[in-house]
Amino acid sequence: MHDESLKDYQRVRRLAIKSLFEIIEQSSEGTVIVDRDARIVWMNERYARRFGLADASAAIGQPCEQVIPGSLMREVVNQGRPILLDMLDTPKEPLVVMRLPIQDASGEVIGAIGFALFDELRSLSPLLKRYASMQQELASTRSLLKARQAKYSFAQFIGTSAASLEVKRRARRAASSDSPVLLLGETGTGKELLAHAIHAASPRAHKAFVSINSAAIPETLLEAEFFGTAPGAFTGAERKGRAGKLQLAEGGTLFLDEIGDMPLPLQSKLLRVLQEKEYEPVGSNQMLQSDVRVIAATSRDLQAAMARGEFRADLYYRLNVLPIEVPALRERIEDLPALTEAILEDLGSRHELEDEALALLGRHAWPGNIRELRNVLERATLLADRARLEVEDIRGALGTLMPRAVEETTPVPGYREACEAFERQLLRDALQRCAGNVPEAARQLGLGRSTLYKKLVALGIQSQ
Ligand SMILES: Nc1ncnc2c1ncn2[C@@H]1O[C@H](COP(=O)(O)OP(=O)(O)O)[C@@H](O)[C@H]1O
Ligand SMILES: [Mg+2]
Repeated sequence: MHDESLKDYQRVRRLAIKSLFEIIEQSSEGTVIVDRDARIVWMNERYARRFGLADASAAIGQPCEQVIPGSLMREVVNQGRPILLDMLDTPKEPLVVMRLPIQDASGEVIGAIGFALFDELRSLSPLLKRYASMQQELASTRSLLKARQAKYSFAQFIGTSAASLEVKRRARRAASSDSPVLLLGETGTGKELLAHAIHAASPRAHKAFVSINSAAIPETLLEAEFFGTAPGAFTGAERKGRAGKLQLAEGGTLFLDEIGDMPLPLQSKLLRVLQEKEYEPVGSNQMLQSDVRVIAATSRDLQAAMARGEFRADLYYRLNVLPIEVPALRERIEDLPALTEAILEDLGSRHELEDEALALLGRHAWPGNIRELRNVLERATLLADRARLEVEDIRGALGTLMPRAVEETTPVPGYREACEAFERQLLRDALQRCAGNVPEAARQLGLGRSTLYKKLVALGIQSQ
């Protein structure tokens, strides 16, 4: 009778112990027993195969760690305490493991037994899921940090002219210091590239590199972007609060691009961050500590901006600790051959540049500097029929790009108009080269045929 037997407590206990062992042993992915020196006494075949042994007998007498990397059986024997639930990473998948000391009649530890379970034990699957999701979170945090790391190093700053070498020398020196750096130079001269490279060569290289561009963000949003917002300061999506760039850059480098376009009120707040190393998120009254290295860049004449009262003198002096003047391309035209070669390679192009074509490039004024050079070369490779870039290809590429020199004097066209103008020119040229053959032009442009037709209609271009 069941009732009878359940009253025999000693017997129940023995049965329970027996079933416990059997259930666990049977459903385990592996079982191992070690002696008091943590040498393997017994191991089941399944477990031995998992660790690459042909036969379990090969494991007998070996220190457990030799067979099971990362095993903690020795700890269990030494301390006499079980490790009831743990994860053991193995080449195939993580296992849930349980390790128990084995005691003799007098209570002395004489060895240990370990069970490796895995997801056949359904009851453990929430735990495994959690483990897997934590692993995933870790991986995505790591990749986020990677995304915030520097994109360029000094090796990518091409140029052996005296002016280029001087820039690189100063930038390298700046990398070993923690003071603010001020990069001055026309648009497209490589200021952003240098900012990345300085960070990458600095002791903060393993921390984040975060950029904020004062010219690209509307003034009303800039402060929140910079300092973040406190929870509850806004309604809707922002209600939870959001980390600012300053916080994202904590411990790393903050790149302030186009600082000459920073509005005056924000200039004052930035100055305070630089001096006091603390700030308040928008809508909060809590001070946060800040440890960032600042690299600022601008294509504006900051002295003139100061004279007009548009840039704070105290901020200028605070930033102007390590100024680096990045020369315009026209001042270092001897770098042109090396630059074109590096850019063509970077574009994945196999084109070779004819000498005369190079000479033509050398005569251009390059108001857009290396960015413009890159655009011209990219365009020329798209226009060229042959594997060589000839004078005509370069002339075509130079001619069709909007001259950037006029940018400063004439009003800047709206973004949409500029894009449209560019698109219109590009499509017209493509059509012309294909003698009005739309399918062929679509193929060369890498567009679908109907997409190109729609664009032609939208832009009012006649295909013939
Ligand atoms: N010395 C250089 N060598 C190679 N590429 C360069 C160099 N300077 C700039 N570039 C390239 O030119 C483009 C514009 O550079 P960027 O750093 O954005 O200029 P800026 O910030 O001064 O406007 C980028 O594609 C960059 O990689
Ligand atoms: Mg720039």
